[in-house]
Amino acid sequence: MLNFEYYNPTRISFGEGKVASLDKLIPQSAKVLILLGGGSAKRTGTLDEVKQALGQRTFLEFNGIEPNPTYETLMQAVEVVKQEKIDFLLAVGGGSVIDGTKFVAAAALYDGEPWDILLTGAKHVHAAVPFGTVLTLPATGSEMNSGSVITRKSIHAKLPFMHPTVYPQFSVLDPTKTYSLPERQVANGIVDAFVHITEQYLTYPVHAAVQDRYAEGLLQTLIELGPQIISDTENYEVRSNFMWVATQALNGLIGSGVPHDWATHMIGHELTALHDIDHARTLAIVLPSLLQVKKDKKHAKLLQFAERVWHITNGSEEQRIEEAIEKTRAFFESLGVGTRFGDYDLDASHIPALVAQLEAHGMVALGEHQDIDLNTAQQILEGAL
Ligand code: NZQ
Ligand code: ZN
Repeated sequence: MLNFEYYNPTRISFGEGKVASLDKLIPQSAKVLILLGGGSAKRTGTLDEVKQALGQRTFLEFNGIEPNPTYETLMQAVEVVKQEKIDFLLAVGGGSVIDGTKFVAAAALYDGEPWDILLTGAKHVHAAVPFGTVLTLPATGSEMNSGSVITRKSIHAKLPFMHPTVYPQFSVLDPTKTYSLPERQVANGIVDAFVHITEQYLTYPVHAAVQDRYAEGLLQTLIELGPQIISDTENYEVRSNFMWVATQALNGLIGSGVPHDWATHMIGHELTALHDIDHARTLAIVLPSLLQVKKDKKHAKLLQFAERVWHITNGSEEQRIEEAIEKTRAFFESLGVGTRFGDYDLDASHIPALVAQLEAHGMVALGEHQDIDLNTAQQILEGAL
């Protein structure tokens, strides 16, 4: 096992009715800014519940954080925080609203141009406005991690940052809040969580028995429950497990003491930046092809994945690995998530611009061995045609 530091200060308040616990979680004297997406929280009644829980506290609303939250929109929220002397942020929504809130939290206290937070890997971030979240879409794990991904529309850039000051203080996870999700977002959530696990599991063995078994358990839960998560929209037990798997997939636990890949995500971000494809769908395009291209270096873990996650025990090692990759692709497809360029009206002519974007963003040595250079990235993209 590799050396690691594990730190996660986010309190989880889980279960039906837990929005009411905001009253205990947020200081009585706080001046709160509620950050919201495009209207789902208002439509579903979650926002009313939140306001009721805030009681006599002073609060303002900031609406309109878009999927793949933009620097352009978020800087308007930074202005509100500064002008109104806000001292607590509350994100109510999916990963985009939470990621956006993390950026606002750090940018409001940043000396200098906040876009530099993205360009410097948050090197000069020292503080952030405290915040909590009410999660309405299980997918990203943003509710219990210190990562955020921000898009700057004007230059087609989508870049991540991580910093310990942007762990949420708490996250409220009420599975009933997911009942209103459209099928497309539910499928996205399953795929995103699945790929978060593989980014931390499908690398090379380091004798991390606990992390491996834990990752395999999370993957199997997604595979077993996947069809029901989609079809049985108001099944509390199923949605509870979905919500908790997605959080566990990226809260740092399975990633402690093991190598990480993340190439699927970095290549996927360019597909979103240039072609506005949903985050999870970009992962479904990249992952099966990446596993094919990197199957020699990932041989041992792919074999373990085939046996323990997909229960494939017959055939040569090569055949078992092939079958595991095909089953992964078929799983994504079974959720209605296309895995080929053609499913998104893209073709080979779009690849050079994607590779140029990777180069422009310094994504030239990706993966657990830093051996996914631009040529390999191109090969991976060609494998997804
Ligand atoms: O904007 P509203 O009106 O709220 O509607 C949203 C949005 O249109 C809707 N929605 C959310 N909860 C709903 C609902 N509709 C009905 N009922 C509900 N309960 O769903 C749509 C998509 O929301 P979004 O927040 O964009 O989705 P998701 O949670 O998948 O977040 C994706 C973003 O997270 C980033 C992605 O890159 C992308 O920008 N990621 C963040 C990570 C992190 N911080 O650790 C890791 C991930 O790998 C990912 O990169
Ligand atoms: Zn993701």
